[in-house]
Amino acid sequence: MSASPHDAFELPRQSMSNGMQVGISDREFNALRTLIYAASGISLSATRRALVCSRLSRRLRELQLQSFSDYHELVVSEGPDSEEYQLMINCITTNMTSFFRENHHFDHLRNKVLPALRERVRAGHPRRLRVWSAGCSTGEEPYSIAMACLNFWGTTAAQWDLRILASDIDTEVLARADAGRYPADQLENIPQDQLQTHFLRGRGDWAGFCQVRPEVRQLVAFRQLNLIEDPWPIRTQFDLIFCRNVLIYFDHPTKNRIISRLADTLTEDGTLFLGHSESAETTTTGLMSLGNTTYRRRAAAGAAAVTPVPALKPADT
Ligand SMILES: C[S@@+](CC[C@H](N)C(=O)[O-])C[C@H]1O[C@@H](n2cnc3c(N)ncnc32)[C@H](O)[C@@H]1O
Repeated sequence: MSASPHDAFELPRQSMSNGMQVGISDREFNALRTLIYAASGISLSATRRALVCSRLSRRLRELQLQSFSDYHELVVSEGPDSEEYQLMINCITTNMTSFFRENHHFDHLRNKVLPALRERVRAGHPRRLRVWSAGCSTGEEPYSIAMACLNFWGTTAAQWDLRILASDIDTEVLARADAGRYPADQLENIPQDQLQTHFLRGRGDWAGFCQVRPEVRQLVAFRQLNLIEDPWPIRTQFDLIFCRNVLIYFDHPTKNRIISRLADTLTEDGTLFLGHSESAETTTTGLMSLGNTTYRRRAAAGAAAVTPVPALKPADT
């Protein structure tokens, strides 16, 4: 499951219900990729033409449209707040993820972040941790974070105030994430005892599925958030931000702008985790590299500590 997100780009072209395949002209592809870029920041090079064709063919079929020009015209006329605009974005996003993906980040959490936080608590810091999983897809990442924290804290977990904001642009993956139900064969990375601690086994119609237990789900608030929106509707300074395997879909200016804004959203000495093929500019962002695509916000000389503002509600369960 932890294949590169790029692998998911190589999808077969889908055919129309009548067996015919609608082709996409240069003009149609350019018009659609311009629209997608403006809507999401996702930058599609000329090599992504088959992807656009394949992913949007389903919408053409469902709407019984004859061409991509018709589809483009429809989305433009319905506008950015329309359902079709959102469905177009949902079709284009690549949502590859898995539990404890890039496990070295969870090792860093267990071996560095959480022990350091425990020391700070001994020195009078509140038992509070604010985390943002930005581009959370179907929820495996934020639930893995919650489980790693609960495992580390053990019997003292109830004393901790942990809240995880998990956001994505794609409403379809957010609905699946919120339900927290996964096919059992996607949970292979999770040891048996952890499965029993953190999941419920499905019965009847849900046989073969496992659901994340309510006590874990209530730590995560799923929200739609488009990372290219400015400003973000967020008042919290986060101790940890996971923004992994999301920025690869953006061009350099967009990626750099988002990384700077993520850095500004961290608490002083907060940690940013990026995906394995992503990196942050350290000279301009106030971030310093800790290796393994892990970055810490440098304390500003003489600046007062940032007071975290708890602005998130637990997810509805
Ligand atoms: C490959 S998944 C990464 C999931 C998870 N972070 C991981 O590393 O396993 C990329 C996610 O980024 C989301 N995404 C793409 N563009 C976005 C945007 N402009 N704002 C927010 N999320 C976006 C996609 O919907 C998708 O779910």
